[in-house]
Amino acid sequence: RRILLVNGPNLNLLGVREPGVYGSDTLDDVVALASETARGLGFELRAVQSNHEGVLIDAIHEARTECAAIVINPGAFTHTSIALRDALSGVALPVAEVHLSNVHAREEFRHHSYISPIAEFVIAGAGIQGYEFAVRRLAALLA
Ligand code: DQA
Repeated sequence: RRILLVNGPNLNLLGVREPGVYGSDTLDDVVALASETARGLGFELRAVQSNHEGVLIDAIHEARTECAAIVINPGAFTHTSIALRDALSGVALPVAEVHLSNVHAREEFRHHSYISPIAEFVIAGAGIQGYEFAVRRLAALLA
């Protein structure tokens, strides 16, 4: 069984981008942590990162028949994208929404998420460990 890990715009710059906010770990570190966690629980992780909304939507559509659950950090699309939310609703898989930073302690425009109402749960502010927690919780929900 497979879990899809989706990282949205600018997360390819992790480790370089505003390290005071997002930490010094890289996207490779995130993918390695999530993959190891998934493997330990009997799941295979498929990881995609894109700066393009449509590429993320296509990856979510593919997950419909190929994955059992989705972990997503939608980046700034969290606060803007009805299309991404509709894609997640459309494939009807359990979704974990993850943010590295505590979006609620930041600017007002980061407080609203189009994704949260359709997510099983939301983790914000736990850094890259949030991805590990998300994989663990989804695996428990699928058990
Ligand atoms: C983020 C928070 C978003 O507000 C921001 O646009 C990001 C990253 C996070 O992981 O903390 O790109 O999703």
